[in-house]
Amino acid sequence: MVKPGSNMEAAIDCLRNGEIVGIPTETVYGLAANALSAEAVAKIFSAKNRPFFDPLIVHVHGITEAEKYVHPMPEKAQKLATAFWPGPLTLVLPKKEIIPDLVTSGHDTVGIRVPSHPVCLELLKKLDFPLAAPSANPFGYVSPTTAKHVADQLGDKVCYILDGGPCHVGVESTIVGFPQGEPLVYRLGGIAVEQIVAVLGPIAEQIYSGSNPAAPGQLDVHYSPRCKIVLSNNNTTPDTPETVYLRYTEPLAGIETERQLILSPKKNLEEAAVNLFAMLRQLDNAGYNCILAELLPETGLGRAINDRLRRAAAK
Ligand code: TXA
Ligand code: MG
Repeated sequence: MVKPGSNMEAAIDCLRNGEIVGIPTETVYGLAANALSAEAVAKIFSAKNRPFFDPLIVHVHGITEAEKYVHPMPEKAQKLATAFWPGPLTLVLPKKEIIPDLVTSGHDTVGIRVPSHPVCLELLKKLDFPLAAPSANPFGYVSPTTAKHVADQLGDKVCYILDGGPCHVGVESTIVGFPQGEPLVYRLGGIAVEQIVAVLGPIAEQIYSGSNPAAPGQLDVHYSPRCKIVLSNNNTTPDTPETVYLRYTEPLAGIETERQLILSPKKNLEEAAVNLFAMLRQLDNAGYNCILAELLPETGLGRAINDRLRRAAAK
């Protein structure tokens, strides 16, 4: 059982030896391996129980670094990279040969991003290969936002867990692809669509879902706690002592506050995103049988949060 720590050299040794390591990013913790080694990357899939049709994101420490692994970027991709890297934006671009097919599930594109977490950037700069990393949770479960979350579920499967503190964005990166040379939002995430529109103008969306075969990976059921989750704005589920509440800014009147968690006492979507996955885990582990979750305003990061809540409830 591996204990999280801040020993950068230990993480580097593991990665150089083709082993897998839990790493901090600003969005969620990743389960990382040498992206240029199919043998190392295969260990990610088996540790997570992840299906091979779900491609991984490759992490690099800068735009010049990214250019080693993708063909020349369309102008709009360059604009986005300049505006949002380092940060929670993944660009899906035609890959170069050097990226193994296992990383991309056989697609001729690769998802690539420059994370902004200082510990992650330092690690990437010290390595002479990029890191493939999905979120460091068993496939389908809630994503991890602390090193302890990683240790709790994958502590016996990793070579090391590099602790970088709690993630300060809290939802995964926004994913943008360029299937016909024009940008298309595939996944809502840590960069709000409004921010992208401010750089590129209006942008089309094709949010990943199971019924959309052109979009790999992202299933309708995902981010799921073990207990049932119900979206409380959409139903009239009666209160029972086994029910807990996940609220946006305020507790529901008439229900004990011990059975309610508030995503953002400060009333902002950024704080709600930071708390989302940790609170879902906390409620899931508290022995209740139903989480009644409130949907947030459909704007900014609220859209990414609601996307996660809907998939978690889709069980
Ligand atoms: O914030 C994040 O993106 C985190 C941190 C660790 O960087 N990573 C993450 O990875 O969320 P993961 O594996 O949970 O989600 C990766 C998703 C895939 O499920 C797929 O939907 C999309 O990225 N993706 C990756 N490569 C792709 C490709 N070549 N074409 C289309 N979609 C791709
Ligand atoms: Mg994930």
